[in-house]
Amino acid sequence: MTLPNLHEQVLKTSQQARQVAARLKADDPVRDWYRLELQKLTVNADDPELPLDEANARLGALKQLLYLIRDHSIKLQNPDYQAPVKQFPDSFLTVQARAPSNVLNSARELGFTIEPTLLHDPAMENESFDPVSPTAKVVAWLRGLDKSLQITAAFSPETDGETLLQNLGITDPETQALMSVLFQSRYHAMNAAISGQEHDAKQIIEFASGISPRGYQWSRMSPGTIYVESDLPQLMIHKAKLVRNAYLADGTRARGVHHCCAADVLDRQSLFAAIENLDTGSPFTLATEGLLLYFSEAEMEQFFANIQAVLEKFPHAVWVTDFVSKSNLQDLFDSDPGVAKSVKAVFSQVQRSVVPSNPFDSDECINQWLDRFGLVAAAKVDLRDATSILEIEADVTAEQRQQVVGNRKIWRVVSGGAS
Ligand SMILES: C[S@@+](CC[C@H](N)C(=O)[O-])C[C@H]1O[C@@H](n2cnc3c(N)ncnc32)[C@H](O)[C@@H]1O
Repeated sequence: MTLPNLHEQVLKTSQQARQVAARLKADDPVRDWYRLELQKLTVNADDPELPLDEANARLGALKQLLYLIRDHSIKLQNPDYQAPVKQFPDSFLTVQARAPSNVLNSARELGFTIEPTLLHDPAMENESFDPVSPTAKVVAWLRGLDKSLQITAAFSPETDGETLLQNLGITDPETQALMSVLFQSRYHAMNAAISGQEHDAKQIIEFASGISPRGYQWSRMSPGTIYVESDLPQLMIHKAKLVRNAYLADGTRARGVHHCCAADVLDRQSLFAAIENLDTGSPFTLATEGLLLYFSEAEMEQFFANIQAVLEKFPHAVWVTDFVSKSNLQDLFDSDPGVAKSVKAVFSQVQRSVVPSNPFDSDECINQWLDRFGLVAAAKVDLRDATSILEIEADVTAEQRQQVVGNRKIWRVVSGGAS
């Protein structure tokens, strides 16, 4: 059965696409082609509901069609328009994705769609990887040291992450292993917190997903789920292609629905637009991992206000996140000198005063922040509980693992009115 809101989305987008068709001039060179495509893709109000996978596939293809027709109309209305000269030729996959029928087939085969702007935005060099945050690459590489997830190489890029670590002087295998323990315990604890109650895990929207493989793994392991992942556009342009390549390479169809889009969590409109890819009439989980640490106090205020707006509008939604207090950071620095030096080196790269800017002295302080925004912690998952799952080659003892994660936790947060 299709989730009602996704069906409504297909219906709304179909109506929008027909309105655009009605506006095309009789001599417009693409009018006939556009109308033929519409016949294949659109639905009517009295049509039976589409299955979830088909709804996702049609939505992806319709969005693509609208994107292309808008682009075409802009060019027609501005005869002087000159497409920017690109440094890199488009990849085969980008060229293929220009045809809505290819998008439709690919979404049907893989259950996977990409926001069209991530494929074609001419203002961006969309074929080169120039992520906003190199920390995402560092985390991705370190994640690969743990074999408990069997992460495909696509999500743990050898060259970029390793070079960055070398540049930062993080070369000691034991230090790298301990940092991997930290990130992977966080990853597993996030999974446990997202799974929470069974119904919550049916729809997930992850923000700032970086190069994390969670969306890919979740969709492959959980039939009947929707996983929307997002990050800033410059990063997502690259990530979406990594995900698609991973699906194509492993030859299996995603068993859940997986969608990649761009979203800036500090921009409320952008955040809500990403959520539109879900069935907002049913429960869903917002996930953010490794994001909050880099915010200034003003950005944190904006982010909390945005989360508050989402949870107030959708009281059945849950926010799952890793809060890191100043006290957690001190424990981390005290846990191991190599890790302390390395973490500080990573912080120095982000050009922000990460430790002094952290507005959370302790867990108590996090609770006060939540309270100020009408939010409340419903549950917590200890990173300590995840350390024994990890399969890391380097010899790090159970005690070292426990020390490096300290008493960090993943928090499940709900609207105060919902609890
Ligand atoms: C340390 S990485 C963590 C990535 C991933 N969650 C993980 O655990 O591997 C931080 C991520 O936050 C993203 N980011 C930074 N500011 C953001 C914003 N305003 N909106 C959305 N994502 C943002 C960066 O692009 C980067 O991918």
